[in-house]
Amino acid sequence: MKQVVCSSLTGIDDLSITSDATAPALNPHSVRIEVHGCGVNYPDTLIVRGAYQFKPPLPFAPGGEVAGVIVEVGSEVSRLSVGQRVAGICLWGGFAEEVVVPANSVIAVPEAMELTVAAGFTITYGTTIHALRQRARLQPGETVLVLGSAGGVGLAAVEIASAMGATVIAAASTADKLALATAHGAKHTINYLEQDLKRTVKSLTDGKGVDVVYDPVGGDYTEQALRATAWNGRLLIIGFASGTIPALRANLLLLKGCQAMGVFWGDFIQREPDASEQNMQQLFEWYQSGLLCPHIHGVWPLEDVRNALHAIENRSVMGKLVLSPKI
Ligand SMILES: NC(=O)c1ccc[n+]([C@@H]2O[C@H](COP(=O)([O-])OP(=O)(O)OC[C@H]3O[C@@H](n4cnc5c(N)ncnc54)[C@H](OP(=O)(O)O)[C@@H]3O)[C@@H](O)[C@H]2O)c1
Repeated sequence: MKQVVCSSLTGIDDLSITSDATAPALNPHSVRIEVHGCGVNYPDTLIVRGAYQFKPPLPFAPGGEVAGVIVEVGSEVSRLSVGQRVAGICLWGGFAEEVVVPANSVIAVPEAMELTVAAGFTITYGTTIHALRQRARLQPGETVLVLGSAGGVGLAAVEIASAMGATVIAAASTADKLALATAHGAKHTINYLEQDLKRTVKSLTDGKGVDVVYDPVGGDYTEQALRATAWNGRLLIIGFASGTIPALRANLLLLKGCQAMGVFWGDFIQREPDASEQNMQQLFEWYQSGLLCPHIHGVWPLEDVRNALHAIENRSVMGKLVLSPKI
C-alpha cells in the first residue's frame, strides 16, 4: 500500500513516499480503516524530528487522526462493523492508504459529515470542547480570548465558544486570518503583531478583561493574555505553536484570583471515556444543526506531505489541512 515514510528523525524534507509498504497487522481489539483523509496537525511537524511527546519506532508513517471506512474488524470488537464510516485517533500511521486503530479510539461519523471534514475534526474540536466545557466551565455571556484563532484548534475554539453562548475576541497575525475568525463567530479581533494584546483586550471589555483565555500559541503572548484576564479568569494552556514554553508569574494568578489550567485531551479521552463520548456527540449535534462549520484549508494528495508540514510550520494554513490517499 501507499504511505508516507519517516525513516530518520531529521525532519520534514527527509520524508518519502512508498507504494509497497506492508499493511499493518490487525489485532483483536482494533479495526482496519481504509483512509479517505488524514488531518494535518502541528504535532506532525514535531514527531518527524523526534521532538514530540512520543517517539514511534523507525520507520513509521506520521499522521495522527484519520477518517475513512472500516474494512476489517478485530475478533474482540463488537460495537463496530465493516463498511462503517468512522474517524479514528491513531497518533501516527495515518498518512497511508490503510491504518489499524484501537476500537476504543474510533467513533462513527454521521452521514451529514463528509469524511474529509471528519478527518480534521476529532483532535481540534475534541480538544477544544474539553478545554471549554470540563476545564474552563465556560458560561453563556462570558468572554473568551482565542490566540492563534485561525489555526486548527483556534478556529474550533472560536466556533465552540460561540456555540456555548460566549463572546469571542479573536487574536491572530494577519487580516485574512482575522476575517476568517469573524466569519466563524468572533465578535472582536486583534492583530497581535500590530496591536498591544493586553491594552486592546482591556479596551474591548471596558477595562474588565476576559473570563477565559484559550492559548495554543505560548511564548510572550501567554503573559500578555494572562494580564488581560478578569477577576476569576481561567487561562487554558493548550499548546506552544510559537515554539516557546512560557514561564508563568505566580503573582499574576494571585492578584487576579485566576487559574491557569492544563488541557491534555489525549489523556482525557483515555481517563474519562464517557465524558469524551458525550463531548463528541454534542459536537456532531452542533455540526448537524449548522452551529459548527469547520474550515478546510485544502485536501491535498499524500505526495504533498512535505509542503503540508512546511505550510503548518510557516503559519500559512487556516483551519484544517487534510491529506488524502484517494486523490
Ligand atoms: N493540549 C492538547 O490536548 C492539544 C490538542 C491539540 C493540539 N494541541 C497543541 O495546540 C497547538 C496548535 O495546534 P494546531 O494543530 O491547531 O496548529 P496550527 O493549525 O498550526 O495553528 C497554530 C497557530 O499558532 C500560531 N503560531 C504562532 N507562532 C507560530 C509558529 N512559530 N509556528 C506555527 N504557528 C504559530 C499561528 O497563528 P498566527 O499566525 O495567527 O499567530 C497558527 O495558526 C500545538 O502546540 C499543538 O500541539 C494541544
